[in-house]
Amino acid sequence: MAESSSPARQLTITRPDDWHIHLRDEDYLPACVADASRYFGRLIVMPNLVPPVTDAEAAKAYRQRILACARPGPFNEEGQDSFEPLMTLYITPETNATTVSEACRSGIVHAFKLYPAGATTNSAAGVDQIESLYPLFEAMQDQGMPLSIHGEVTDPTTDIFDREALFIEQQLSPICEKFPELKVILEHITTSDAVDFVNSASSNVAATITVHHLMYNRNDLLSGGIRPIYYCLPVLKRNTHQQALISAATSGSNKFFLGTDSAPHPKTAKENACGCAAGCYSAHAAIELYAEAFAQENALDKLEGFASFHGADFYGLARNKDTITLIEEPWEVPQTQPFGNDQLIPLRAGTTVNWRVAASNSLIGEKF
Ligand code: NCD
Ligand code: ZN
Repeated sequence: MAESSSPARQLTITRPDDWHIHLRDEDYLPACVADASRYFGRLIVMPNLVPPVTDAEAAKAYRQRILACARPGPFNEEGQDSFEPLMTLYITPETNATTVSEACRSGIVHAFKLYPAGATTNSAAGVDQIESLYPLFEAMQDQGMPLSIHGEVTDPTTDIFDREALFIEQQLSPICEKFPELKVILEHITTSDAVDFVNSASSNVAATITVHHLMYNRNDLLSGGIRPIYYCLPVLKRNTHQQALISAATSGSNKFFLGTDSAPHPKTAKENACGCAAGCYSAHAAIELYAEAFAQENALDKLEGFASFHGADFYGLARNKDTITLIEEPWEVPQTQPFGNDQLIPLRAGTTVNWRVAASNSLIGEKF
């Protein structure tokens, strides 16, 4: 008798978007854009270049450089390319109300990003005194410009595992109280404290969750040998926090949405005894890995909301109209991949991913 095998599971969802990604620049840009634009429609592009993207003019120029690397399509109903980089500006002590109005007028800037000075990669130009930004937040609130936040205190005496929770208590809570109409995105959350805060805050406060914070905890980073590939900021926390993030992402709550924080660094900068660069690269397999994480929780029915609806709704943008189809079929992630003239080690290098994208169902043109 022939062995019966159940057909591979499939899932068709509205085309997803990535609400937090680093595309880098120059030689590194093409690889980042090629991977990120495989299936995502829109990308919220982080501005932490060197020097950072601080005004609408610079954002326009960066956007053009990104578009020059993108493959054409997929196309939406109106025949427009549904790949769209949504630009952000980097807040410095010089950012002011005029920067906000110019950004609004440009039509291409969708958020301002707050990096506390020294919090992470290329954040030296960030802000020391967050209270000094209150007039700026007022202008952003008035003009409907969302605030995207890297939520960690930077006081070097604060334990690195406590930096997010302390930031919420000392900085974020007062900001949300003083500016109740300001849309705030707490990026790449890593703790149950962040989940609780976002859940109890108003509908103007939301959070992105990376796939690496769903897949890993600090044991993966530190136990049995330090693994630079898992070092990112905010740093991976203990497994109870990982569980809280998994619950939040798969809860169906519209306050949580997909943001990979895919942040590539060359292998040599990661495997560096004098300081491993912070950032995990996941753009090569992002929606596939989220599918795997959701499938593990028997929550595939919640993936579309998290990946394709909640972010667009929060940013006040239309949901994508076309779809992609995921299929439960194993494939191998390469050990390394080219990154400009360097190499990088992608997340899950050399391992099997259980889901792949079977089809990118454009409404008009085919992507491939
Ligand atoms: C990011 C990077 O490398 O640009 N690194 C990271 O660990 N996530 C910056 C950031 O978002 O913190
Ligand atoms: Zn980031």
